[in-house]
Amino acid sequence: MTQFSFLLSLAILATQAVAFPQIQSLGGLSARELEDILPRLNAVTPPPPPGASNDTAVRLVNDKAHPYMPLRPGDIRGPCPGLNTLASHGYLPRNGIVTPTQIINAVQDGFGMDVEDAMVLAYSTMLVDGNVVTNLMSIGGKSPLTGPDPPKPAIVGGLNTHAVFEGDASITRQDFFFGDNHSFNPKLFSQFVDFSNKFGDGFYNLTVASELRFQRIQQGIATNPQFALLSPRFSTVYGEAAFPLVFFVDGRKADGKLSVKDALGFFRDSRMPDGFHRTDLSKSADAVKNFTGAIFAAHPTQPGKNNGTVNSYIVDPNTPGLNDLCGLYENFVNNIIVSLYPNPQGVLRDNLKANLNFFFGPFEGCTQLFPYGQ
Ligand code: HEM
Repeated sequence: MTQFSFLLSLAILATQAVAFPQIQSLGGLSARELEDILPRLNAVTPPPPPGASNDTAVRLVNDKAHPYMPLRPGDIRGPCPGLNTLASHGYLPRNGIVTPTQIINAVQDGFGMDVEDAMVLAYSTMLVDGNVVTNLMSIGGKSPLTGPDPPKPAIVGGLNTHAVFEGDASITRQDFFFGDNHSFNPKLFSQFVDFSNKFGDGFYNLTVASELRFQRIQQGIATNPQFALLSPRFSTVYGEAAFPLVFFVDGRKADGKLSVKDALGFFRDSRMPDGFHRTDLSKSADAVKNFTGAIFAAHPTQPGKNNGTVNSYIVDPNTPGLNDLCGLYENFVNNIIVSLYPNPQGVLRDNLKANLNFFFGPFEGCTQLFPYGQ
């Protein structure tokens, strides 16, 4: 979606907020009422994925066209320092309300992330945390700017929503059990600095990532009675420890060593260092894969959760392992999406089908599932 049509759709949403004063949820309506109302909401047919960027070069991305700007009142940021930074530099809308197409373009342009990784993240989070009718998602807390909610149990809560993508054991954010699960946490960053000094000579490198990842899991098991590492969080927890080694390190250097000064800029301030160059897009997918595997291998942990008391971690044999991509896909569609959308109708059903279809793209080789028909 172009910037122009994005602004246009926000303007339409604003008009509809007046026409539909109760924009929070349509959960109380009968199937017949929904059938009537849903087509009149700001339904958007989700466009196909934008595809891979032809421009893979290392290049200046903190440039004149994408200056850092501080937050304005109402701008939303959330648990992902990558998306926060892209929004604060204008690669994503600065207000933090985004579409999957905007995410896929922004992570390629601003950080050199591979298109398939971008598609998996963009469509899976859209399906869980976004509004599939209006094709808008908040990169932080729930926002009326994503439009009227589809019926519950759909959440449409933005990326801050705990338990599916936002999860426990984050490196710089607290576990949900302790309160704020999405803001930069200075105490956790002190631990990040301590580990970088102890294991990385002042840099966050592969050894630091491996040790800190393990430490945060051990801390969660020992202090959080509700600590959980289940699918898909079990996979993202390792990938996210690897991302800073690839995407937050200047592409001219690309040595997997992130200084704590630059880390503070990204994690706390959503800000790229001056003169920052993105990494080589043609190499980033392999780098992420290799780092992720190495971080896991340093301290292999099984998926599981505490049973309501601390230090009671029980392995969950039903959660797919790190390399079981088809298992991940099946679990996501059959368990997570179907439980959020048990009986979608009309445009909601059509848009769920479209997003599920786009999401399947990178899982070619697995069996495609059609919970709402082909
Ligand atoms: C492609 C779309 C992306 C989506 C939908 C996404 C979403 C998320 C979400 C929901 C979290 C919270 C998980 C948690 O509880 O820790 C997260 C964390 C994280 N994301 Fe992203 N992300 C994306 C791309 C990126 C990119 C491009 C980068 C790096 C440039 C990045 C770096 C990180 C890091 C480092 C964390 C962990 C923060 C921590 O542990 O303190 N993400 N992301």
